[in-house]
Amino acid sequence: MSFAELQKIEVTADRPYPVFLGAPLEELGAYLHSQFEDLEHILIISDHAVRDLYAERLKKGFFDKRVNLLTVPAGEKEKSLERLSQLTTAALRCGADRHTLVIALGGGVIGDLAGFFASAFMRGIRLIQAPTTLLAQVDSSIGGKVAVNLPAGKNILGAFYPPRAVWTDFTTLDSLPWGEVENGLAESIKHALIADMGLFEFFETQQESLKQRDPLIWREMVSRSSAVKVGIVSQDEREQGKRALLNLGHSFGHALETEMNYRGVTHGQGVSIGLVAAAYLAKAKGLMTVAEVERIKLLLNTFGLPTEIGEITSIEQDPKALLQRMQTDKKNLGGRKILILPHGIGRAVISKECTDQEILDAWKQVVSAD
Ligand code: NAD
Ligand code: GLY
Repeated sequence: MSFAELQKIEVTADRPYPVFLGAPLEELGAYLHSQFEDLEHILIISDHAVRDLYAERLKKGFFDKRVNLLTVPAGEKEKSLERLSQLTTAALRCGADRHTLVIALGGGVIGDLAGFFASAFMRGIRLIQAPTTLLAQVDSSIGGKVAVNLPAGKNILGAFYPPRAVWTDFTTLDSLPWGEVENGLAESIKHALIADMGLFEFFETQQESLKQRDPLIWREMVSRSSAVKVGIVSQDEREQGKRALLNLGHSFGHALETEMNYRGVTHGQGVSIGLVAAAYLAKAKGLMTVAEVERIKLLLNTFGLPTEIGEITSIEQDPKALLQRMQTDKKNLGGRKILILPHGIGRAVISKECTDQEILDAWKQVVSAD
């Protein structure tokens, strides 16, 4: 295969790197061969489920190299210091050194954990992201954020550690359960809202094909959504400004997830309700019309994503408690809440001007429609 023929977008950051789209896992070995003359030892890090599905396909490309596969159970709780320490011990046992290259094969959990490991092992070794969930393909594998969680907070220990390449094989999405697809769709729709009106319209017009997982339509959606993320991190890799736009819906979503103790709400559902709350707030600020808010709600509902809290839990949520949860948001500055608001569809702004009353009113509108 000629790598020049693969669809590719470049992250043009401090150290540029390519994001290959529709790149077969079997070909990654040959690509790395062509890029790194000194490549001797490869460490594939994955979770048990992804290993069973895809590790063999990936390993095929490394027939004459020393390859070790390290796996962890699936799930967010694996993004821990304990697991990082175990991975390090296992890597040393495999003879890993500063010339080892790590491939993170899996969803966002593996991308973050293996990425953080690569950033710290021997002060940093080469990293390739090979994302296998929709969320990881359109979002977490691009942009270089890697982290583990501590009891004190999610992603509290982390780094900016850009990979040498992102290798996205669309076919891995065929095995992804719909619940996981929803998590990625919420982020993809968020990307459309922030920066690509055409992508939003694509979601509207291609909803049936997307639900039926038509491969060509999926390919286009993942490519366009990835391109939004590439465009933003290329302008602001270290989140000094524009990258904050990617948090659209997340201040609300995160407050809801925390208030519900991460039970009965997925990240995608939190983001979805958060997008609607942000849209209501934007309407109150004169940045959106009622029709635009309804359009966003309709699209989210089309894909089974909730637009009000009553859709996911029968336990009544208190808007004031939800507002209180936003008090500790990392983005707040000097007691002021910094929120990302959509400005029409396809554009978003950073707002420091929202009052607690306006935010409370937005919460009230997503607690329940009646
Ligand atoms: P995940 O990595 O936990 O994967 C979800 C589930 O899908 C797991 O059970 C996994 O085994 C399974 N899976 C993965 N690929 C599969 C496939 N192709 N077929 C079948 N099953 C498959 O979850 P996620 O949603 O991909 O990632 C969430 C994580 O990403 C969170 O920890 C979040 O903090 C992080 N994140 C990071 C960034 C970033 O910029 N670094 C951005 C967004 C989210
Ligand atoms: N997912 C938000 C970011 O990468 O900045």
